Amino acid sequence: MENLKVGWTSPSNIALVKYWGKVPVQIPANPSISFTLSESKTSMTVFVSPSNKKEVDVDFYFEGELNEKFKTKIVKFLETEVERFPWLEEFHLAINSENTFPHSSGIASSASSMSALTLCLLSLDEKITGHTLLLEDFFREASDLSRKASGSASRSIYPILATWGEIDDLPETSNLFASPIKKTEIHESFRKFCDAILIVDAGEKSVSSRAGHALMDNHPFAIERFKRARHNLTRLLAAMRAGDMNTFIEVVEEEALMLHSLMMTSTPSYILLKPTSLLLIEKIREFRAKTNIPVCFTIDAGPNIHLLYPAEFRTDVHQWLKSELVDLKVVQNIIYDEVGMGPERIKD
Ligand code: PMV
Repeated sequence: MENLKVGWTSPSNIALVKYWGKVPVQIPANPSISFTLSESKTSMTVFVSPSNKKEVDVDFYFEGELNEKFKTKIVKFLETEVERFPWLEEFHLAINSENTFPHSSGIASSASSMSALTLCLLSLDEKITGHTLLLEDFFREASDLSRKASGSASRSIYPILATWGEIDDLPETSNLFASPIKKTEIHESFRKFCDAILIVDAGEKSVSSRAGHALMDNHPFAIERFKRARHNLTRLLAAMRAGDMNTFIEVVEEEALMLHSLMMTSTPSYILLKPTSLLLIEKIREFRAKTNIPVCFTIDAGPNIHLLYPAEFRTDVHQWLKSELVDLKVVQNIIYDEVGMGPERIKD
Protein backbone atom coordinates (compact mmCIF):
# COMPACT_ATOMS: atom_id res chain seq x y z
CA MET A 1 0.00 0.00 0.00
CA GLU A 2 1.41 3.38 -1.00
CA ASN A 3 1.39 6.48 1.22
CA LEU A 4 -1.97 8.15 1.66
CA LYS A 5 -3.16 11.56 2.78
CA VAL A 6 -6.52 12.93 3.93
CA GLY A 7 -7.60 16.18 5.54
CA TRP A 8 -10.63 17.80 7.14
CA THR A 9 -11.46 21.13 8.72
CA SER A 10 -13.91 20.93 11.59
CA PRO A 11 -15.39 23.69 13.72
CA SER A 12 -15.83 24.28 17.41
CA ASN A 13 -19.35 24.61 18.80
CA ILE A 14 -21.02 26.56 21.59
CA ALA A 15 -23.61 24.80 23.75
CA LEU A 16 -26.91 26.54 24.46
CA VAL A 17 -28.12 23.78 26.80
CA LYS A 18 -25.04 22.34 28.45
CA TYR A 19 -23.71 18.82 28.76
CA TRP A 20 -22.37 18.62 32.30
CA GLY A 21 -22.14 15.20 33.94
CA LYS A 22 -21.84 11.78 32.34
CA VAL A 23 -21.75 8.04 32.92
CA PRO A 24 -19.10 5.75 31.42
CA VAL A 25 -18.27 5.66 28.56
CA GLN A 26 -19.05 9.23 27.63
CA ILE A 27 -22.83 8.87 27.90
CA PRO A 28 -24.30 12.27 28.74
CA ALA A 29 -26.42 12.67 31.87
CA ASN A 30 -28.73 14.96 29.89
CA PRO A 31 -29.21 15.97 26.26
CA SER A 32 -27.51 19.14 25.02
CA ILE A 33 -27.76 21.45 22.01
CA SER A 34 -25.23 23.74 20.36
CA PHE A 35 -24.65 26.17 17.55
CA THR A 36 -21.88 24.99 15.24
CA LEU A 37 -19.36 27.79 14.76
CA SER A 38 -17.70 28.91 11.57
CA GLU A 39 -14.42 30.74 12.18
CA SER A 40 -13.11 28.80 15.18
CA LYS A 41 -11.98 25.57 13.61
CA THR A 42 -9.21 22.99 13.28
CA SER A 43 -7.56 22.01 10.00
CA MET A 44 -6.11 18.54 10.20
CA THR A 45 -4.15 16.52 7.66
CA VAL A 46 -3.11 12.93 8.23
CA PHE A 47 -0.37 11.24 6.18
CA VAL A 48 -0.11 7.46 6.52
CA SER A 49 2.79 5.27 5.49
CA PRO A 50 3.34 1.53 6.07
CA SER A 51 4.96 0.59 9.39
CA ASN A 52 6.12 -2.72 10.91
CA LYS A 53 5.70 -1.64 14.53
CA LYS A 54 2.39 -3.48 15.14
CA GLU A 55 1.19 -0.71 17.42
CA VAL A 56 -0.44 2.69 17.12
CA ASP A 57 2.41 4.86 15.91
CA VAL A 58 1.82 8.60 15.64
CA ASP A 59 3.75 11.82 15.18
CA PHE A 60 1.57 14.75 16.10
CA TYR A 61 2.45 18.22 14.86
CA PHE A 62 0.50 21.12 16.32
CA GLU A 63 0.99 24.33 14.36
CA GLY A 64 4.13 22.94 12.79
CA GLU A 65 5.78 21.59 15.93
CA LEU A 66 5.83 18.11 17.45
CA ASN A 67 3.49 18.13 20.44
CA GLU A 68 3.85 15.25 22.90
CA LYS A 69 0.94 16.28 25.15
CA PHE A 70 -1.62 16.19 22.35
CA LYS A 71 -0.02 13.06 20.91
CA THR A 72 -0.54 11.16 24.17
CA LYS A 73 -4.25 12.05 24.20
CA ILE A 74 -4.69 11.05 20.57
CA VAL A 75 -2.77 7.77 20.86
CA LYS A 76 -4.86 6.83 23.91
CA PHE A 77 -8.04 7.39 21.91
CA LEU A 78 -6.76 5.60 18.77
CA GLU A 79 -5.77 2.57 20.85
CA THR A 80 -9.41 2.16 21.88
CA GLU A 81 -10.43 2.05 18.20
CA VAL A 82 -7.99 -0.58 16.88
CA GLU A 83 -10.73 -3.18 16.63
CA ARG A 84 -12.75 -0.87 14.33
CA PHE A 85 -9.65 0.26 12.39
CA PRO A 86 -7.15 -2.67 12.47
CA TRP A 87 -4.93 -0.84 9.96
CA LEU A 88 -4.01 1.60 12.77
CA GLU A 89 -1.36 -0.96 13.78
CA GLU A 90 -0.02 -1.33 10.25
CA PHE A 91 0.63 2.32 9.42
CA HIS A 92 2.58 5.23 10.78
CA LEU A 93 0.38 8.35 11.10
CA ALA A 94 1.83 11.84 10.74
CA ILE A 95 -0.88 14.23 11.92
CA ASN A 96 -0.68 17.97 11.27
CA SER A 97 -3.17 20.09 13.14
CA GLU A 98 -3.75 23.82 13.09
CA ASN A 99 -6.38 26.00 14.67
CA THR A 100 -7.69 29.14 13.02
CA PHE A 101 -8.19 30.70 16.42
CA PRO A 102 -5.06 31.87 18.23
CA HIS A 103 -3.39 29.36 20.53
CA SER A 104 -4.23 30.14 24.18
CA SER A 105 -7.16 32.29 23.15
CA GLY A 106 -9.31 30.65 25.77
CA ILE A 107 -11.32 28.70 23.19
CA ALA A 108 -11.49 24.99 23.90
CA SER A 109 -10.11 23.17 20.89
CA SER A 110 -11.07 19.59 21.77
CA ALA A 111 -14.43 19.73 19.92
CA SER A 112 -12.88 20.96 16.67
CA SER A 113 -9.73 18.85 16.85
CA MET A 114 -11.34 15.57 17.90
CA SER A 115 -14.09 15.87 15.30
CA ALA A 116 -11.47 16.65 12.63
CA LEU A 117 -9.51 13.58 13.74
CA THR A 118 -12.43 11.17 13.53
CA LEU A 119 -13.44 12.51 10.11
CA CYS A 120 -9.86 11.90 8.92
CA LEU A 121 -9.95 8.38 10.39
CA LEU A 122 -13.13 7.48 8.53
CA SER A 123 -11.87 8.95 5.25
CA LEU A 124 -8.63 7.00 5.64
CA ASP A 125 -10.60 3.85 6.38
CA GLU A 126 -12.54 4.30 3.15
CA LYS A 127 -9.30 4.72 1.20
CA ILE A 128 -7.52 1.80 2.86
CA THR A 129 -10.36 -0.73 2.87
CA GLY A 130 -12.17 0.47 -0.26
CA HIS A 131 -15.40 0.19 1.72
CA THR A 132 -17.34 3.46 1.49
CA LEU A 133 -20.19 4.53 3.74
CA LEU A 134 -23.35 6.36 2.78
CA LEU A 135 -22.87 10.04 3.64
CA GLU A 136 -25.43 9.91 6.46
CA ASP A 137 -23.75 6.85 8.01
CA PHE A 138 -20.32 8.42 7.57
CA PHE A 139 -21.27 11.51 9.60
CA ARG A 140 -23.19 9.48 12.18
CA GLU A 141 -20.18 7.27 12.82
CA ALA A 142 -17.90 10.33 12.90
CA SER A 143 -20.18 11.81 15.54
CA ASP A 144 -20.17 8.57 17.58
CA LEU A 145 -16.36 8.36 17.43
CA SER A 146 -16.04 12.06 18.29
CA ARG A 147 -18.29 11.54 21.32
CA LYS A 148 -15.93 8.87 22.62
CA ALA A 149 -12.92 11.15 22.07
CA SER A 150 -14.47 14.26 23.66
CA GLY A 151 -18.24 14.36 24.37
CA SER A 152 -19.16 17.77 22.98
CA ALA A 153 -17.13 17.07 19.79
CA SER A 154 -20.01 14.82 18.66
CA ARG A 155 -22.06 17.94 17.90
CA SER A 156 -19.37 19.62 15.74
CA ILE A 157 -19.99 17.12 12.93
CA TYR A 158 -23.23 18.82 11.88
CA PRO A 159 -23.97 22.29 10.51
CA ILE A 160 -25.84 25.11 12.25
CA LEU A 161 -27.57 23.45 15.20
CA ALA A 162 -27.17 19.96 16.66
CA THR A 163 -28.44 18.06 19.67
CA TRP A 164 -26.69 15.20 21.41
CA GLY A 165 -28.41 12.82 23.82
CA GLU A 166 -31.80 11.16 23.98
CA ILE A 167 -34.70 13.62 23.89
CA ASP A 168 -38.07 12.21 24.97
CA ASP A 169 -40.24 13.22 22.02
CA LEU A 170 -37.52 12.93 19.34
CA PRO A 171 -37.05 9.16 18.76
CA GLU A 172 -34.20 9.62 16.27
CA THR A 173 -31.97 11.21 18.94
CA SER A 174 -29.36 9.10 20.73
CA ASN A 175 -26.86 9.20 23.57
CA LEU A 176 -24.26 7.82 21.15
CA PHE A 177 -24.23 10.46 18.44
CA ALA A 178 -25.49 13.95 17.68
CA SER A 179 -28.49 14.76 15.51
CA PRO A 180 -28.64 17.73 13.16
CA ILE A 181 -31.56 20.13 13.27
CA LYS A 182 -32.47 21.28 9.79
CA LYS A 183 -32.37 24.98 9.00
CA THR A 184 -35.97 24.77 7.81
CA GLU A 185 -37.04 23.46 11.23
CA ILE A 186 -36.02 26.66 12.97
CA HIS A 187 -37.58 30.08 12.68
CA GLU A 188 -35.74 32.43 10.34
CA SER A 189 -34.79 34.76 13.20
CA PHE A 190 -32.44 32.01 14.49
CA ARG A 191 -30.94 30.95 11.16
CA LYS A 192 -28.20 33.59 11.03
CA PHE A 193 -26.66 34.05 14.43
CA CYS A 194 -23.35 35.54 15.52
CA ASP A 195 -21.11 34.71 18.46
CA ALA A 196 -18.60 37.36 19.55
CA ILE A 197 -16.27 35.57 21.94
CA LEU A 198 -15.13 38.07 24.55
CA ILE A 199 -11.78 36.89 25.85
CA VAL A 200 -11.46 37.71 29.53
CA ASP A 201 -8.61 35.34 30.22
CA ALA A 202 -6.71 33.35 27.61
CA GLY A 203 -4.91 31.10 30.09
CA GLU A 204 -5.54 27.41 30.64
CA LYS A 205 -8.43 26.81 33.05
CA SER A 206 -7.62 25.68 36.58
CA VAL A 207 -10.07 22.74 36.61
CA SER A 208 -10.48 20.58 33.50
CA SER A 209 -13.88 19.71 32.02
CA ARG A 210 -13.13 16.08 32.77
CA ALA A 211 -12.78 16.84 36.50
CA GLY A 212 -15.88 19.04 36.33
CA HIS A 213 -18.01 16.25 34.81
CA ALA A 214 -16.77 13.86 37.53
CA LEU A 215 -17.84 16.29 40.27
CA MET A 216 -21.44 15.92 39.06
CA ASP A 217 -21.41 12.25 40.18
CA ASN A 218 -22.06 13.14 43.81
CA HIS A 219 -23.39 16.65 43.32
CA PRO A 220 -26.26 17.55 45.68
CA PHE A 221 -28.20 19.19 42.83
CA ALA A 222 -27.44 16.58 40.14
CA ILE A 223 -30.91 15.06 39.82
CA GLU A 224 -32.61 18.46 39.66
CA ARG A 225 -29.99 19.70 37.20
CA PHE A 226 -30.48 16.83 34.75
CA LYS A 227 -34.25 17.28 34.96
CA ARG A 228 -33.96 21.03 34.38
CA ALA A 229 -31.63 20.54 31.39
CA ARG A 230 -34.22 18.27 29.73
CA HIS A 231 -36.90 20.84 30.40
CA ASN A 232 -34.69 23.65 29.08
CA LEU A 233 -33.89 21.74 25.91
CA THR A 234 -37.57 21.22 25.15
CA ARG A 235 -38.29 24.88 25.88
CA LEU A 236 -35.38 26.08 23.77
CA LEU A 237 -36.28 23.96 20.76
CA ALA A 238 -39.89 25.13 20.89
CA ALA A 239 -38.72 28.75 21.14
CA MET A 240 -36.35 28.35 18.19
CA ARG A 241 -39.12 26.80 16.09
CA ALA A 242 -41.58 29.55 16.97
CA GLY A 243 -39.18 32.51 16.76
CA ASP A 244 -39.60 33.26 20.49
CA MET A 245 -36.51 35.33 21.20
CA ASN A 246 -37.36 36.11 24.84
CA THR A 247 -37.60 32.45 25.83
CA PHE A 248 -34.40 31.71 23.89
CA ILE A 249 -32.55 34.40 25.86
CA GLU A 250 -34.03 33.25 29.17
CA VAL A 251 -33.01 29.61 28.66
CA VAL A 252 -29.54 30.32 27.25
CA GLU A 253 -28.56 32.65 30.10
CA GLU A 254 -30.03 30.32 32.72
CA GLU A 255 -27.99 27.42 31.31
CA ALA A 256 -24.76 29.42 31.39
CA LEU A 257 -25.28 30.57 34.97
CA MET A 258 -26.47 27.14 36.11
CA LEU A 259 -23.31 25.51 34.71
CA HIS A 260 -21.19 27.88 36.78
CA SER A 261 -23.41 27.59 39.86
CA LEU A 262 -22.90 23.80 39.68
CA MET A 263 -19.14 24.37 39.75
CA MET A 264 -19.46 26.75 42.69
CA THR A 265 -21.53 24.21 44.65
CA SER A 266 -19.42 21.11 43.87
CA THR A 267 -17.30 19.47 46.56
CA PRO A 268 -14.62 20.73 46.26
CA SER A 269 -16.08 23.98 44.99
CA TYR A 270 -14.41 26.03 42.31
CA ILE A 271 -15.00 29.26 40.42
CA LEU A 272 -13.94 29.77 36.81
CA LEU A 273 -15.62 33.14 36.32
CA LYS A 274 -13.53 36.28 36.80
CA PRO A 275 -14.71 39.70 38.00
CA THR A 276 -14.63 40.85 34.35
CA SER A 277 -16.95 37.99 33.36
CA LEU A 278 -19.57 39.37 35.78
CA LEU A 279 -18.99 42.92 34.60
CA LEU A 280 -19.63 41.78 31.01
CA ILE A 281 -22.86 40.02 32.00
CA GLU A 282 -24.05 43.24 33.61
CA LYS A 283 -23.10 45.30 30.56
CA ILE A 284 -24.80 42.88 28.15
CA ARG A 285 -28.03 42.97 30.15
CA GLU A 286 -27.89 46.79 30.35
CA PHE A 287 -27.31 47.07 26.59
CA ARG A 288 -30.25 44.73 25.91
CA ALA A 289 -32.57 46.67 28.22
CA LYS A 290 -31.55 50.04 26.75
CA THR A 291 -31.68 49.14 23.04
CA ASN A 292 -34.08 46.18 22.84
CA ILE A 293 -31.47 44.45 20.69
CA PRO A 294 -31.78 40.71 21.50
CA VAL A 295 -28.22 40.04 22.64
CA CYS A 296 -27.57 37.39 25.27
CA PHE A 297 -24.63 35.58 26.76
CA THR A 298 -23.54 32.04 27.23
CA ILE A 299 -20.41 30.72 28.93
CA ASP A 300 -18.39 27.54 28.52
CA ALA A 301 -16.31 25.95 31.25
CA GLY A 302 -14.12 29.05 31.55
CA PRO A 303 -14.26 32.80 32.20
CA ASN A 304 -14.86 33.97 28.60
CA ILE A 305 -18.24 35.29 27.56
CA HIS A 306 -19.92 34.30 24.30
CA LEU A 307 -22.16 37.13 23.13
CA LEU A 308 -24.93 35.76 20.90
CA TYR A 309 -27.02 37.95 18.58
CA PRO A 310 -28.93 37.72 15.30
CA ALA A 311 -26.73 38.72 12.33
CA GLU A 312 -29.09 41.58 11.40
CA PHE A 313 -27.89 43.48 14.50
CA ARG A 314 -24.20 42.99 13.71
CA THR A 315 -23.40 46.65 12.99
CA ASP A 316 -24.99 48.02 16.18
CA VAL A 317 -23.49 45.28 18.35
CA HIS A 318 -19.99 45.71 16.92
CA GLN A 319 -20.13 49.45 17.44
CA TRP A 320 -21.14 48.92 21.06
CA LEU A 321 -18.41 46.30 21.57
CA LYS A 322 -15.79 48.64 20.20
CA SER A 323 -16.74 51.69 22.23
CA GLU A 324 -17.65 49.93 25.49
CA LEU A 325 -15.20 47.04 25.64
CA VAL A 326 -12.32 47.29 23.17
CA ASP A 327 -11.52 51.00 23.48
CA LEU A 328 -11.82 50.83 27.28
CA LYS A 329 -9.67 47.65 27.34
CA VAL A 330 -12.25 45.68 29.34
CA VAL A 331 -11.50 42.51 27.35
CA GLN A 332 -8.18 41.15 26.05
CA ASN A 333 -9.50 40.23 22.64
CA ILE A 334 -12.71 39.52 20.72
CA ILE A 335 -13.13 36.68 18.25
CA TYR A 336 -15.98 37.43 15.86
CA ASP A 337 -17.57 34.13 14.97
CA GLU A 338 -20.93 33.04 13.61
CA VAL A 339 -23.03 29.96 13.08
CA GLY A 340 -21.46 27.82 10.37
CA MET A 341 -21.96 24.96 7.98
CA GLY A 342 -19.91 22.25 9.71
CA PRO A 343 -16.84 20.25 8.65
CA GLU A 344 -15.32 20.33 5.18
CA ARG A 345 -13.08 17.83 3.48
CA ILE A 346 -9.72 19.28 2.40
CA LYS A 347 -9.03 18.38 -1.23
CA ASP A 348 -6.35 15.66 -1.57
O1 PMV B 1 -16.86 17.77 25.79
P1 PMV B 1 -16.25 18.12 27.09
O2 PMV B 1 -15.94 16.92 27.92
O3 PMV B 1 -15.09 19.06 26.89
O4 PMV B 1 -17.35 18.94 27.94
C1 PMV B 1 -17.93 20.12 27.46
C2 PMV B 1 -18.68 20.81 28.50
C3 PMV B 1 -19.24 22.19 28.16
O5 PMV B 1 -18.50 22.81 27.15
C4 PMV B 1 -19.17 23.05 29.40
C5 PMV B 1 -20.70 22.12 27.75
C6 PMV B 1 -21.02 21.59 26.39
O6 PMV B 1 -22.10 21.00 26.26
O7 PMV B 1 -20.27 21.84 25.44
